[in-house]
Amino acid sequence: MLGRTLQRHFRQHELCIAGRPEVDVADGRCVDQAVAAFRPDVVIHCAAMTQVDACEAEPDKAYRINALGSAQVARAAARHGARLIAVSTDYVFDGSAARPYHEFDAPAPRTVYGASKWAGEEAVRRHCPDHTIIRIAWLYGEDGPSFLHTMLKLGAQAGAPLKVVHDQTGNPTSTDAVAELIGQLLERPLPGVVHGSCEGEATWFEFARAIFERAGLRRELVPCATAEFPRPAPRPANSRLEKRMLRLAGFPPMPHWQVALEKFIS
Ligand SMILES: NC(=O)c1ccc[n+]([C@@H]2O[C@H](COP(=O)([O-])OP(=O)(O)OC[C@H]3O[C@@H](n4cnc5c(N)ncnc54)[C@H](OP(=O)(O)O)[C@@H]3O)[C@@H](O)[C@H]2O)c1
Repeated sequence: MLGRTLQRHFRQHELCIAGRPEVDVADGRCVDQAVAAFRPDVVIHCAAMTQVDACEAEPDKAYRINALGSAQVARAAARHGARLIAVSTDYVFDGSAARPYHEFDAPAPRTVYGASKWAGEEAVRRHCPDHTIIRIAWLYGEDGPSFLHTMLKLGAQAGAPLKVVHDQTGNPTSTDAVAELIGQLLERPLPGVVHGSCEGEATWFEFARAIFERAGLRRELVPCATAEFPRPAPRPANSRLEKRMLRLAGFPPMPHWQVALEKFIS
């Protein structure tokens, strides 16, 4: 989803797009050959196993892609003199804090997905000194699947009122906003970890309500608790990310999620 947005956003740049059919990120030789052949200035690493429940069921696969894969990408970028921008997640935190997490908070993942992404971050730090790790959350974009796509589909169907979780809070974030941030980071590198979700916060219920309003969908929404939808991987109650690094480095703030959503829907 993010990769496709970046492909459109950076049309003016000389791009080498590598999806899973071209490059298996966990295959070191394959990654190295791809980077050696193109000799990029920057490698943007979006590949991941992102289905959090599937990661619980298949931890080896999750670590192979998210941890080993990130290590191979980082090693290849460093070996061929490229900067690395790697994408990570709020799931590196346990979600129990009463405030948004900033870049200097200690990660404590509670899921296989979060732990494997944290291992991937560690690998990036270890293998590629010239890196930026962008942590994002609650992502949607033109290409799904995402919560927004599910809501647009369900909202257009007739049926009983739709229950949506109202006790998890996060920053709904468009892939376009992340692409804008990556564009800024290409011009002005910022080393280390950078939180890059949109500003403002919402529960899933509030996000769904905003999607329905803007898309003109009339199906009734009802708030509910996380406990009503037990899932294999626990969902963080608090996915909010404070953009401390962007603020300290004098970058413009990320757009408010409602502004980004309006732009996306229109
Ligand atoms: N979606 C969110 O809400 C969210 C939130 C926070 C952070 N993130 C992070 O943002 C980044 C982009 O997420 P996204 O939502 O764009 O994910 P996505 O749509 O699931 O895309 C991930 C891509 O990685 C590819 N991939 C999987 N295994 C691979 C392998 N071994 N080698 C090469 N490619 C492989 C997938 O290919 P296949 O389709 O063939 O599997 C897919 O094209 C990820 O790092 C993710 O952890 C996402």
